[in-house]
Amino acid sequence: MEPGLHARSGVACADCHMPYMRDGASKVSDHWVRSPLLNINRACQVCHLFPKEEMAARVDRIQQRNFDLLQRAAKALMDQMDAIIAMQAAGVLHEDLAESLALQRALSGVWTLSRLKIR
Ligand code: HEC
Ligand code: HEC
Repeated sequence: MEPGLHARSGVACADCHMPYMRDGASKVSDHWVRSPLLNINRACQVCHLFPKEEMAARVDRIQQRNFDLLQRAAKALMDQMDAIIAMQAAGVLHEDLAESLALQRALSGVWTLSRLKIR
């Protein structure tokens, strides 16, 4: 969710990952950077006034949707790989497969990057 609406609305990493806390009488930011979901109260509810459970459920839905899309992309990549292998076995010339192979490489790269970003 990082490059989306929050970034465009000027919400910074630290707003969620280093929320304010109290240390005696003073207000300091939390330097124990960890999942904001362990601390929805301070990490999200400063700006969002809806209940904690609903907040968590929304994050969960977004994460599930990303996960499902990644799974679909992975399956499509595998299917494409199988199709390439089948064509090779059927004697299709390497140069005739060049475009498919280039796409396979490019898409694998994109998929790997998107995995790294999410988890
Ligand atoms: C609107 C609040 C919010 C903002 C702003 C935000 N994050 Fe996050 N970030 C989250 C949530 C929620 C998660 C998911 C945590 C979980 O699943 O337990 C997360 C996850 C992450 C993770 C992955 C942790 C893991 O174990 O998967 C990293 C790394 C991260 N954020 C870095 C950043 C950086 C860098 C920025 C600024 C560019 C940023 N975040 C801005 C809320 C935010
Ligand atoms: C510093 C203020 C701030 C903090 C902290 C913050 N948000 Fe937001 N959030 C916003 C703003 C501003 C928007 C955009 C609202 C709009 O434009 O309608 C937004 C939008 C959202 C949306 C709608 C996104 C969409 O694509 O529809 C969700 C979901 C959300 N925030 C969840 C969270 C969660 C979860 C946290 C804590 C991890 C969090 N926010 C922390 C300010 C914040």
